[in-house]
Parts: sequence; structure tokens; C-alpha cells
Amino acid sequence: MRLQGKNMIVTGGASGIGLATVERCLREGANLVLSDLAASDGAARAQALDGHGGRCLFMPCDVTSSGQVDALVAGTVKQLGSVDAVFSNAGVGGLRPAHEMSDADWLRVIDINLSGVFRVARAALQQMYAQGSGSLLNCSSILGGLGQSGAVAYSAAKAGVVNMTRTLAIEAAPRGVRVNSIGPGYIDTPLLNDLSPEMRQALIALHPIGRLGRSDEIANAVLFLASDEASYVTGSHLLVDGGYSAGKS
Ligand SMILES: NC(=O)c1ccc[n+]([C@@H]2O[C@H](COP(=O)([O-])OP(=O)(O)OC[C@H]3O[C@@H](n4cnc5c(N)ncnc54)[C@H](O)[C@@H]3O)[C@@H](O)[C@H]2O)c1
Repeated sequence: MRLQGKNMIVTGGASGIGLATVERCLREGANLVLSDLAASDGAARAQALDGHGGRCLFMPCDVTSSGQVDALVAGTVKQLGSVDAVFSNAGVGGLRPAHEMSDADWLRVIDINLSGVFRVARAALQQMYAQGSGSLLNCSSILGGLGQSGAVAYSAAKAGVVNMTRTLAIEAAPRGVRVNSIGPGYIDTPLLNDLSPEMRQALIALHPIGRLGRSDEIANAVLFLASDEASYVTGSHLLVDGGYSAGKS
């Protein structure tokens, strides 16, 4: 059991990559706090998963609220005793050409995908510093390193996550805490539900491996970075993208 006895929070844990990570890490012996918007399926999913390995608790949290994020970390400590790993995964899409993007559209994506990751990091690191240990994982994207038409706010936020992670890792290393980011390629989750069949085929063609990724393939990478197997890995950005970022064929 690679996470035996560890207590872990996953934000945006009710769906897609977050849910797969909750399931994977539970099977490795961790106790999980599945956190998501109150209106999500999180409570029912956590109840169904509780005891499939470790404990699985639901705690609602909107990452755009500092108060809710602080309460999530405090609630985890109260219920489980520590915060050993956090996967800061909550995120939204929001495709729109830059010239058509309103302030509200821009700010929403930045607030969830970049500032939300900062809020979770701040609260998690305060607790991990007090413990003298922990592993924080921030969810970026292939678009953290590459541009894409229509993804102006998303790509800005995800690039911000990659470089914020480096700074956090430098600050956290002397305090016994590791911080890394992960860069999924296109993964078959509800985030891609709006794609037409033609767009889906076009996206598949961009991945040398010849298919979209699966959520469990991201969960496996998160599991590694959260575990003590990654004890010398910090400040890194791990691409799990079927070769998308390697270049054109
Ligand atoms: N699916 C992909 O192709 C892909 C590729 C690269 C990166 N990512 C990133 O992976 C992460 C998970 O995406 P997914 O594909 O599993 O999407 P998803 O839509 O299946 O899940 C996202 C979850 O985040 C939650 N969420 C949204 N806003 C929130 C908020 N303000 N506070 C708390 N939770 C909130 C949603 O309720 C949902 O459960 C995101 O950060 C996304 O940007 C996804």
C-alpha cells in the first residue's frame, strides 16, 4: 500500500481526473477528503467509496472562497489529524477567442484555475509546515507550456500554475514539503463533453500515442508524486500527455 496511513485532500474530486485520483489513492491505503462544490455529486460519491481502502469523507469547498478553502484544511485536520498530500485539481474550461472574452469570463477562469490553486496552496502549506512534511500537487495542463486558439485565460492560468509551483517548491523544500505540478494531455472526462466528433478526432490526432488519455492514467502519476517514492522530486512539472508536447509528427 503506497499511501498507507496518509491523509489526502483532492479538490474537484467529484468528477473526472479528481474522482479517479480519489479512487486510486484510496486503494493504496490513504484516507481521502473528496472535496468539490456543494452542488456536485461529491457527497454521494464519497459515501459510496468510504472504506474501499481508507476512509473517504466529503467536504464541500468552492476554491474561489479563501474562507471555504481554509475551512477545508482545518476540517481535514479535525477529522483525520493531518494533511499529508493535497491534489489541487478543481478547474474549469472556458474556451472563447480573446477578442470576444469579457472581463467576467476572464476573471472566472483565473479565479478558479489560478487563484484557486494559490488559495489551496497557502492553506495546505501552513498546515504542512506545522507538520514538517507533506506533498502538494497542482493540476496544470499541456496548455501550461503551449498556447491554443481559444484558450487565452485557461492557458494563462495553467502556465501560472507551473511557475507558481516552482516558487512554492523553493520556499517549501527547507520545511520538508514537496510541491509539484502535473500536465495532462487531453483526458476523456466531462470537461470535454462539449466537443463535436470532428473536434474530438482532431484532438486525438495531436497525441502521438493515438488516443485521448484516461483519468486513471493521471491518477497514477498523482499517486507517485504524493507518495514517498517521489521523495527527491520537487519543483517539477510532470507531463502525462501521450506525447502531445513532444512536437509535431
Ligand atoms: N480533461 C482534460 O482534458 C484536462 C487536460 C488538462 C488538464 N485538465 C485539468 O484537470 C483538472 C480536472 O479536470 P477534469 O477534466 O477532471 O474536469 P471535470 O469537469 O470532470 O472535473 C472538474 C471538477 O472541478 C469542480 N469544480 C469546478 N469549479 C470548482 C470550484 N470553484 N471549486 C471547487 N471545485 C470546482 C467541478 O465541480 C468538477 O467536479 C482541471 O484542473 C483541468 O483543467 C483537464
